[in-house]
Amino acid sequence: MVNLGREGKLRLSSSHTTEYATSLELDFFSPIRWTDNQFFLLDQTLLPQEETWIHCTDLEIVCDAIKRLAVRGAPAIGVAAAYGLAVAVGNSGPESFDAAYQTLMATRPTAVNLRWALDLGRDLEQEMPAKDLHAGLIAWAQKLHVEDAETNRRIGEHGKELFAQADRVLTHCNAGALATAGFGTAVGVVQAAFEAGRLGSVWVDETRPLLQGARLTTWELKRLGIPHQLVTDSSVGALMSRSLVDRCVVGSDRIAANGDVANKIGTYTAAVMAHRHGVPFYVAAPLSTIDRSTPTGNDIPIEERASAEVSMIAGKDMTPSGTEALNIAFDVTPAELVTAIITEQGVLRAPYEESIAAAFARAAA
Ligand code: MRU
Repeated sequence: MVNLGREGKLRLSSSHTTEYATSLELDFFSPIRWTDNQFFLLDQTLLPQEETWIHCTDLEIVCDAIKRLAVRGAPAIGVAAAYGLAVAVGNSGPESFDAAYQTLMATRPTAVNLRWALDLGRDLEQEMPAKDLHAGLIAWAQKLHVEDAETNRRIGEHGKELFAQADRVLTHCNAGALATAGFGTAVGVVQAAFEAGRLGSVWVDETRPLLQGARLTTWELKRLGIPHQLVTDSSVGALMSRSLVDRCVVGSDRIAANGDVANKIGTYTAAVMAHRHGVPFYVAAPLSTIDRSTPTGNDIPIEERASAEVSMIAGKDMTPSGTEALNIAFDVTPAELVTAIITEQGVLRAPYEESIAAAFARAAA
């Protein structure tokens, strides 16, 4: 079992199992697969044109998939890293654990679910006999995989209560099943609201530079049969000024102790616009995305990525040669602009220090 410890840190219980499924059969869509004792990730860089699965036979392949966003989204990165530890130990033995932990930790800096999962894996490594470690890590990664989807279902159930009828919802980036082990956070809320008859349609912004909204969220909403329309990122102000947005719901890579939210670049802009136009701005995220050791948004490490991701589109240069772009991957939305944080432990509101502490306490009870 994965339990919340007394300080609210998620910890493994002492009774680790070494029993795992040779093929993990899931009744939900997941971008992560464990089949015939092999680990696969859906290559999200190729969507929506191609559905290709990467066979992750070694640690290097897993790290490369995380770095180049073949697997992306905070919870999905965490679960992929958990399987990555298992693959590394399977290939190179229990003594390779520390190096694998460090290598995975260095892949991406902002999504705290990566550190959360790796630290849980390290707890397990310290408590388990070395001879059992490989089986124990697989069993644990499978548990994380299933539990993440279950957590997201609960986020959806809580989140749908915030919706009225025929709501037009704006979401940014992709915080759907693809970004998690299953179901999604923001898109999970959208799906639950849709199934409850409370959602009219979804505005999907493109999410430059890598088009996670245009490529991935539209792909998911189409599969789910949820009405949606694509807009450019720069349309958000115009949409709101025309009263075409009733609510915003986004995911997060890390939420600081004070409720400041790091998420895909452009989230802050949407939140400022929502505030200006009186549109509720919700963040849907599991407790594993809340980092109580990071006091405020200013303390969250923000990833900067290659210039070419901005200056090129689909492999084609959009700028005169030599143009350098600053590619800030995430921004921070101050807590004061966040109407509510939707977690598996319910809907949290300001003051967030208190509501976050209460949510961790409920989870620990
Ligand atoms: O760079 P990405 O695609 O990994 O960024 C993803 C996001 O910003 C998501 O909104 C966030 O990770 C939450 S996913 C449930």
